[in-house]
Amino acid sequence: GRALAQRLTVIGTGYLGATHAACMAELGFEVLGIDVDADKIARLSAGELPFYEPGLEPILRRNLENGRLRFTTSYDEVAEFGDVHFICVGTPQKPGEYAADMSYVDDTITALAPRLTRACLVIGKSTVPVGTAERLARRLARLAPAGDLAELAWNPEFLREGFAVEDTLHPDRIVIGVESDRAEKVLREIYTPMTAEGIPLIVTDYPTSELVKVSANAFLATKISFINAMAEVCEAAHADVTKLSEALSHDDRIGGKFLGPGLGFGGGCLPKDIRAFMARAGELGVDQALSFLREVDAINIRRRIRMVDLARELLGGSFIGRTVGVLGAAFKPNSDDIRDSPALDVATTIRAQGGNVTVYDPQALDNARRAHPELAYGTSAQDAVAHAHVVLLLTEWREFRELDPDELGAGVAERNIVDGRNALDPERWRAAGWHYRALGRP
Ligand code: UGA
Repeated sequence: GRALAQRLTVIGTGYLGATHAACMAELGFEVLGIDVDADKIARLSAGELPFYEPGLEPILRRNLENGRLRFTTSYDEVAEFGDVHFICVGTPQKPGEYAADMSYVDDTITALAPRLTRACLVIGKSTVPVGTAERLARRLARLAPAGDLAELAWNPEFLREGFAVEDTLHPDRIVIGVESDRAEKVLREIYTPMTAEGIPLIVTDYPTSELVKVSANAFLATKISFINAMAEVCEAAHADVTKLSEALSHDDRIGGKFLGPGLGFGGGCLPKDIRAFMARAGELGVDQALSFLREVDAINIRRRIRMVDLARELLGGSFIGRTVGVLGAAFKPNSDDIRDSPALDVATTIRAQGGNVTVYDPQALDNARRAHPELAYGTSAQDAVAHAHVVLLLTEWREFRELDPDELGAGVAERNIVDGRNALDPERWRAAGWHYRALGRP
């Protein structure tokens, strides 16, 4: 018989939405993506990704060519086309506040709901404060001409930038928050290709599904800050946090993932999600329950300060008149995303303290240049470290891990390096005459 949901729309075509739209088309659905940014829609329609994500562009192109995937800026078209509408718009941190800015999500319902005249399911994927789904369901019921036939469900997304395709097509788990059997049935049907592979599907209510997402990110942030707190202790005790982390990781109750000590977490998700989570807990009267996240955030920020201090120490106490070569601008490797990038935070701080800073990154240079025109940029690692008194490795791209210490050393003024990601082999760099320092190691 006819499938319950054949035609899907994806609202918002950022990292999450563009990936979701292309991957759902790849699974065989007819997909229409929408964004308020006409330029983004023009680029996507031409088969060009507005951001860097390994493996996604071929999937985008293939599904544009076979006609399963299209993009538009028209909500009329979206409402008319979709059996199912996925909300994938952003929820950034509000400037100067901890809370998330919900205006894009709210605007989506305002635009979509009055146009919904037939049975459909609206599925939220954006990361939101707990209680949002309940609130949106009430607005939908009030605004949609289809009445109860236009329903809401929640289906958080756990994809990582750099692994977005793999994480979307083969997620660790699928979580759905539903209030009716019909909504559950539609979602189960959509995700059949994945559940058939044995991927677990957890069915729950709205608030639990919303909380799974933010608590997962809170846990990951906590794990990173835990090991970075150990790094602070290691520095004081002349111990080696990389060995400590390795030894801990053999206990499977602890596990080795997200236990990498270094400059800490950044990006568009972890930092703002833990802050929005604290803000929401405050509104719910349970701020004490999440007060530890304040420490998680503080530990994370202290790593950036420590990095700057270490570099300054290596230069004898001042950046003034000194040249600093920075390797990395993206918040992590395999991404061109510079949102809350620890690397750029360090680079701009050093520049503000009088250093001549030149930055190189394999993918994030355009974004970095736009956001920080005050910094200088190199065309390669070699170029960025030319005449440097100290080199800082701040994003662990494979290209940097594989650098030859002798080749890189040929162009610098002094062989000083601070490995902010514990990505290099200290022995090898010291053997090549470098003064090697790292976060959390003697
Ligand atoms: C994160 C989560 O990992 C995803 O599961 C989630 O879906 C996503 O946020 C989201 O909410 O949308 P992402 O922001 O792409 O994904 O980045 P991560 O791979 O989680 O890395 C976050 C930061 O932690 C990076 O700056 C990375 O350098 C840092 N990190 C990671 C460490 O400092 N140490 C580690 O051991 C691991």
